[in-house]
Amino acid sequence: MIQKSFVMMKPDAVQRRLMGKILARFEDKGLQIVACKLIQIDEDLAKTHYGEHAEKPFFPSLVEYITSSPCLAMVIQGEEAITTIRKLVGATNPLEADLGTIRGDFGMDTGRNIIHASDAPESAEREIALFFNEDEICDYKIID
Ligand code: CMP
Repeated sequence: MIQKSFVMMKPDAVQRRLMGKILARFEDKGLQIVACKLIQIDEDLAKTHYGEHAEKPFFPSLVEYITSSPCLAMVIQGEEAITTIRKLVGATNPLEADLGTIRGDFGMDTGRNIIHASDAPESAEREIALFFNEDEICDYKIID
């Protein structure tokens, strides 16, 4: 089934100039970027996006980190995109993520783990609507 996922390169990916390399992983896999923008997340949006973690001890530092400098927010589409992207991204803790995954190759720290990707269709729908208006999402065919 063709799905859309919300994917966001976090401040550390932008600061470390990893955007191009990471974007290439999704394109090389055969996924399609259908929306993409650099966004400075404010505190309200950070708290809404990460609402499910509000009671966790790391929540204040997560909000501080994600609002610290721009993120690259994207909608990525493809066959079973949510699961496929989670595999490409790797485990939350970069030290546990397999080598060959984005977090496994580029990260060392759970608190600075490079990238976010939706974990289920319901969260993808919610996160896409939170970051993008419908008219920002392109519908185009890849010409083989
Ligand atoms: P993400 O996949 O964006 O979703 C929740 C985020 O919370 C996660 O990536 C990490 O950035 C952060 N997070 C999860 N667990 C911890 C932790 N134990 N310490 C610090 N940050 C964490």
